[in-house]
Amino acid sequence: MTVSDLHLPAVTPTDSIDWQAIPSPAFVLDESRLRRNLSLIQSVQRESGAQIIVAFKGFAMWSVFPLLREYGITGATASSLNEALLAKEEMRGEVHVYAPAYSEAEFPRILELADHLVFNSFSQWERFRPQVEAARAAGKELHVGLRVNPEYAEVETDLYNPAGPFSRLGVTRREFRPELLDGIDGLHFHTLCEKDSDTLERTLEVVERNFGEYLRHMKWVNFGGGHLMTREGYDIARLIRVVRQFREKWGVHVILEPGSAFGWQTGWLVSSVLDVVHNVKDIAVLDISVSAHMPDVLEMPYRPRILGAGDPPEQDHREATDAPAGFPYIIGGTTCLAGDVVGEYVFDHPLNLGDRVVFDDMIHYTMVKTTFFNGVKHPDIGILHLDGTYERVKAFGYEEFKAKLS
Ligand SMILES: Cc1ncc(COP(=O)(O)O)c(C=O)c1O
Repeated sequence: MTVSDLHLPAVTPTDSIDWQAIPSPAFVLDESRLRRNLSLIQSVQRESGAQIIVAFKGFAMWSVFPLLREYGITGATASSLNEALLAKEEMRGEVHVYAPAYSEAEFPRILELADHLVFNSFSQWERFRPQVEAARAAGKELHVGLRVNPEYAEVETDLYNPAGPFSRLGVTRREFRPELLDGIDGLHFHTLCEKDSDTLERTLEVVERNFGEYLRHMKWVNFGGGHLMTREGYDIARLIRVVRQFREKWGVHVILEPGSAFGWQTGWLVSSVLDVVHNVKDIAVLDISVSAHMPDVLEMPYRPRILGAGDPPEQDHREATDAPAGFPYIIGGTTCLAGDVVGEYVFDHPLNLGDRVVFDDMIHYTMVKTTFFNGVKHPDIGILHLDGTYERVKAFGYEEFKAKLS
């Protein structure tokens, strides 16, 4: 069973959207696409018995949290005090917290907010254990977990591989200290990034091999994020089977905390052309910044899709077929960074000032990562509703820019 076998609600076709009517620049979340993802996630949650919570690091657009709740999402995972506060205030479900290290200054507040608290090391657990025990003695119900590092990952990019050499993320089998497990009722691992469920299955084999003797004393296991269940072709049946088998075998509650899977293919970054300059090639300067508004394009790196634009043909191919070249442009942003460029794209029409250029799949890991570099205008955040109306939910001005500085 894959995404296409599930009978999910239809989504608004992109060619029916009046892009010129959307003020630029803007991150535009499409309600129909989000609902589609949510109904899929809801089915997986129901069929597998796993609890699926949203990882704020990837998706934290809080104006749509009521929609998440509508589809049975019962909590969020936070990587910091700020995200934990947002979880409490806006998601209003269970607050799960994991960070590579907690500071003395922030820990007491994090402890107050958390329902599930995951430590990255035994040294952090030992440091904060007295506070945890005091809170429990005072009546707080708190699940405490430890992140383990199975030292197995199929992630190709080092930047996104938490199980690579000398990783600081999670305790390896060699460093494991079973004598300190008293008070810990769950294990957490996170080694996937945009992966399918076959990778999860292979990872679980390693987790069981390395940590099996401790699993049977646990109440819950958190499989982290990176389960891209909303991607076309993802093997959902396998995910459901693997989760069910694990739950039955170890008698544990299973938690998945994807971020990308929620926001995957749910909207766009709408930009417009500010200028077209010429330096051997035509170069369109847009009212957005790759570096400030879609940094993963430069970090991963990857080439985003632009609606209605294609790749430039290979030079050889163009000469051989004499194929019409269309209108090629190098697409760049409005900061002074030379590399603030996405690459060359071919349009079927010449670009004019004010024309919209729409980047696809720009909801997850964008809004959460943006900066005010160069002071460039931050894109609005908006929602395209099911009835076709556009709602601007947030605009950013000088005050937000200034508030980040002093
Ligand atoms: C601990 C942890 N949980 C969950 C996630 C969310 O992963 P994704 O957005 O790929 O599903 C991440 C991502 O880095 C993570 O580090």
